[in-house]
Amino acid sequence: MNNKVAVVTGGASGIGFAAAKALSEANHTVVIADLSKEQGLAAAEELDCDFVQADLSLAKDNFRLIESTAESHGSVDVLVNNAGFQHVCQLANFPEDTWEKMLTVMLTSPFLLTKYAWPYMKKNGWGRVINIASVHGMIASPYKSAYISAKHGLLGLTKTAALEGGEHGITVNAICPAYVKTPLVDKQILAQALNNNMSPDDVISQVMLKNAAIKKLIEPEEVGAFVAYLASDIARSFTGASLALDLGWTAQ
Ligand SMILES: NC(=O)c1ccc[n+]([C@@H]2O[C@H](COP(=O)([O-])OP(=O)(O)OC[C@H]3O[C@@H](n4cnc5c(N)ncnc54)[C@H](O)[C@@H]3O)[C@@H](O)[C@H]2O)c1
Repeated sequence: MNNKVAVVTGGASGIGFAAAKALSEANHTVVIADLSKEQGLAAAEELDCDFVQADLSLAKDNFRLIESTAESHGSVDVLVNNAGFQHVCQLANFPEDTWEKMLTVMLTSPFLLTKYAWPYMKKNGWGRVINIASVHGMIASPYKSAYISAKHGLLGLTKTAALEGGEHGITVNAICPAYVKTPLVDKQILAQALNNNMSPDDVISQVMLKNAAIKKLIEPEEVGAFVAYLASDIARSFTGASLALDLGWTAQ
């Protein structure tokens, strides 16, 4: 029996949903947090877990998520910082408010949630923070300046928190996936197909898998299983790591 209390942000969809499912199947008590109430409630019903509606661009919602989880379940043992979104645009035209929002949801929220969950993990002498970064936390591509800046920053937060957590039994790691088959990527495929006058299949093979040694999109379940592994006891020696799940993209 695992029976730890796990919070998964952005758990209503894609990678977050797959992570919540894998953690539920590993007998953890799961709390999904998401901006979307309708999708969040449906996901929670499917997984028979809790749902907290939260806009993680707001500091107060980050605080409320951790405190309400601790109040309902006694602690927060596993934190999966996953919520995010993409905006593709040339740097010179990038809207300032979109930049701000992306940095807030994908970097400030993981900082706040880690800060608020930390005392519970420290008290138990056990904790797991799992940050869903991206291959774009390690390398760059054009037109994704805010996303890439947030994800590079998230790897810095991961390393610093790992150094501070070691003596308290808290591990902190980042998973860095290449393209995963989720609604976020479906939107990108359609947008790029339109912008570049290409078929969706050509966008996948010629753009998204151009640098991959294995030519396929990743399934959300592959990331979910990795999250469940990092949340387990046997993963105790992984910390501060930026773990590429990238089909060989960064091997070159
Ligand atoms: N799909 C990929 O190819 C890929 C690759 C690498 C990394 N990632 C990362 O994985 C994470 C999940 O992406 P996904 O592909 O599953 O996307 P998705 O769009 O399927 O799911 C993202 C979820 O985050 C939620 N969310 C967005 N803004 C929020 C906010 N302000 N407050 C609360 N919830 C919010 C959305 O409502 C949604 O349910 C993201 O951080 C993304 O950057 C995705």
